[in-house]
Amino acid sequence: MKFSKLIYSFAGLMIGTALTIGLSAPSDAAEFDLAKARVGDGIPKSLTGKPGNAKKGRSTAIHRKKGNCLACHTLPAPEQADHGNIGPDLRGVASRYKPAELRLRLVSAKTLNPDTIMPSFHLKTGYHRVQKKWQGKTIISAQDVEDILAYLVTLKEK
Ligand code: HEC
Repeated sequence: MKFSKLIYSFAGLMIGTALTIGLSAPSDAAEFDLAKARVGDGIPKSLTGKPGNAKKGRSTAIHRKKGNCLACHTLPAPEQADHGNIGPDLRGVASRYKPAELRLRLVSAKTLNPDTIMPSFHLKTGYHRVQKKWQGKTIISAQDVEDILAYLVTLKEK
């Protein structure tokens, strides 16, 4: 994906994020201590207490103004053009990671890699200079995390 395109899709993501944040009340995520998390750790429990919906998760993941995973990743979604290659190809990702590891990556990619450019989709703290209206808010809701996770676990290596 061209850089200019990436910027545009990010402008879209920010607008989408603004809309989503308005709608999604911050949930009380895992009792899991993100500050102590290490590579190979995971968040074992569902953030909502229930399994997610893979179909909804797929549409959130590939939606340019929601998950926008395609800005950086390739997914098995032929209906969308221009998949990204900044991050690893996510086809077969469930064969490489356990669900708990994928959940942690979605909630807080920066816990595993402080230098990553992947957004920490459900992290409420640890940002600097956040505008007041966004403080304590997350990019996507706990339900979105669980739905996207339910989709990711279907992506097994053939
Ligand atoms: C701005 C770019 C960007 C966006 C948007 C993004 N990611 Fe990532 N992602 C990365 C990068 C880069 C990595 C490589 C690891 C790192 O940087 O820590 C990664 C790693 C991952 C991994 C681990 C894959 C592996 O094989 O190691 C998963 C799973 C993942 N991302 C899922 C997602 C999902 C699902 C979304 C959308 C909800 C998403 N990412 C959005 C950049 C992004």
